Amino acid sequence: HKHLIDIREYSDTDLMTILETAKAFSQVNERAIKKVPTLKGKTIVNMFNEPSTRTRSSFELAEKRLSADSLNFGGSSTSTVKGESLIDTVMTLNSYKIDMVVIRDKHAGAPYIVTQHSPVSVIDAGDGKHGHPTQALLDLYSIWERKHTFEGLKVGIVGDISHSRVCGSLIPALKIMGAEVTIIAPGTLIPPAPEVLGVDHVSYSLDDALPELDVVYMLRIQRERLEGAPFPSLREYHELYGLTRKREHLMKPDAIVCHPGPINRGVEFDSYMADHPERSVILDQVYAGICVRMAALYLLLGGADNGLAS
Ligand code: CP
Repeated sequence: HKHLIDIREYSDTDLMTILETAKAFSQVNERAIKKVPTLKGKTIVNMFNEPSTRTRSSFELAEKRLSADSLNFGGSSTSTVKGESLIDTVMTLNSYKIDMVVIRDKHAGAPYIVTQHSPVSVIDAGDGKHGHPTQALLDLYSIWERKHTFEGLKVGIVGDISHSRVCGSLIPALKIMGAEVTIIAPGTLIPPAPEVLGVDHVSYSLDDALPELDVVYMLRIQRERLEGAPFPSLREYHELYGLTRKREHLMKPDAIVCHPGPINRGVEFDSYMADHPERSVILDQVYAGICVRMAALYLLLGGADNGLAS
């Protein structure tokens, strides 16, 4: 593969190769000296035109640990505020003989535009409501670490499905790997045709769905993408769909809890469940983020030597 934009272009074998490569690179992150020469001489542009904590910091760290040169660029500090288009921005960056663009943008489809105006590999780091493939990879990695298989695994995704770019990549990725996916949300937060993404079941009741689930994947209510006031209100949402201490007895004893971050404590969770020492893998997901991004950078840039022997 040249790009990582549409996870549906990847097979189960491709995805497993990325997870296994990420596992190998986790050794680097455990070492005292966390660096390999794998991508020495490669230049990667991180173009973040929308806010990010996890994705941006882990791409930057992944690039540093692989010895690539990073150019961190984007948003209101660029000449786009003077009216320069994304296309002209990309053509300008091409002149530096770069090797890759990692892009986050509020516009769905922005990574495809970059591929049309640049010869280099492109990674979608989140585009509008469309996709977030490296998020799906880190979610797969975290689930694989705890559950060791995807075949028949029952995964429930709870919350704002309709505004979620995470779902745009995660649901197809889970289906490619053989998991069974239920979405759980009020009708106002379910997209018109969830089956297009590969959803197996739709539930409007968290209490009904919870006892079946091996993985409970909570989503944030995306207030920045809602037009007008959320319905139900955040208080009602927490009452009906919040994963709280009083709902824990409904869960399988070994069910785990995921969230892509950032979390809204008191809305999709209470702190008891968000910080649950056995069930919550939220911070493991953050760690997985650096491992899978190292793997994706290495595999897309055609790395022959992963540098792990050095
Ligand atoms: N999960 C995620 O994409 O987080 P950031 O927006 O902080 O990168």
